[in-house]
Amino acid sequence: MNDRYLKACRREAVDRTPIWLMRQAGRYMSAYRAVRERYGFLQMVKTPEVAAEITLQPIEAFDLDAAIIFADILPPLEGIGLQLSFEKGEGPIIHNPIRSAADVAALHECDPRESVSYTLDAVRLVKRALADRIPLIGFSGAPFTLAAYAIEGGGSKEYRRSKQLMFAQPAAWHSLMAQLSTLVRDYLLAQIEAGVDAVQLFDSWAGALAPDDYAEYVLPYVQRIIAEVRASQPGVPIVYFGTDMAGLHPLLAQSGADVLGVDWRSRIDEAWAQFGPGVAVQGNLDPMALFAPWPELERRARTVLDRIGGRPGHIFNLGHGILTETPEDNVRRLVEFVHTYQPDQVIR
Ligand code: CP3
Repeated sequence: MNDRYLKACRREAVDRTPIWLMRQAGRYMSAYRAVRERYGFLQMVKTPEVAAEITLQPIEAFDLDAAIIFADILPPLEGIGLQLSFEKGEGPIIHNPIRSAADVAALHECDPRESVSYTLDAVRLVKRALADRIPLIGFSGAPFTLAAYAIEGGGSKEYRRSKQLMFAQPAAWHSLMAQLSTLVRDYLLAQIEAGVDAVQLFDSWAGALAPDDYAEYVLPYVQRIIAEVRASQPGVPIVYFGTDMAGLHPLLAQSGADVLGVDWRSRIDEAWAQFGPGVAVQGNLDPMALFAPWPELERRARTVLDRIGGRPGHIFNLGHGILTETPEDNVRRLVEFVHTYQPDQVIR
């Protein structure tokens, strides 16, 4: 197996810097859009053969060092009683959002092995198709980001209702986070049992929190999930990713993750210094850089690699998901560049 990605997660030396791109299977690819014409988004996620096919599209098109299973962070919420749909042009909507302590108490327990069996089936299909060429990454939303979606009912700028519940009804907040943490842990473990080689927790929205609130209302649950997954499945790398986290970096170092994601709003070497030497880092090109002319894109990719300076424990990625309309040719050239560039100067 090309295990550069897994080696970098463990901070072992690698022959080339591994690269994969968050949301690498998606609308910027013409192959994806062709399938998307025939299916709704949730239908694609829930049809294992289709999810497997889409997972493999970027692997066939580019020399990526890891695949990530095609799914979404929100469908697992259906298992605990939330009603989800994706509306055209609007993104995800939860039709019965959590608004009170009574709503929290009404959530059910569920076994992700049953409630999201379609994703586990897709994992098995992809593992068979990859035949150990490259690793497969599984993922889950982290409990804060899931809670915020469940409470707001959709996208949000200020997380008004989430913070209201957190600040005014902390017992209900903690109960919700505890239930979501159990779901996330069981979902990650089920994906590992189905064959994924590493797992990533997406906490895309946690950067909206003040550090003291993150430390009190979120971090303990992230720590618990990571500790419990590691205890059951030692050796499977655990990646924790968020955006707008610069003010939380010293706290992320306490998460227990093997790898921490860095978005483009920080310098990756400065973020790594705040995390300490015990973790690997993933990142952190601005996704918009892929729209720049090649020399400018190359300069920006080189800056990331120079800041790392060849130290083991770096996975090249974007600072957030790849954007719609990204030129596929720039993705191809970026992957090639990351695989061949040798940093000669180290920026410190
Ligand atoms: O990285 C990957 O390629 C794996 C697949 C993946 C998707 N979503 C597919 C997807 C992953 C890891 C996610 C994570 C996800 N989903 C997050 C956390 C990471 C992040 O990007 O912040 C969040 C917040 C969601 C929820 C979500 N799903 C939103 C807000 C949207 C709508 C926005 C949009 O881009 O349309 C989605 C839809 C979605 N998830 C698409 C894909 C490929 C686009 C669906 C389409 O074809 O219309």
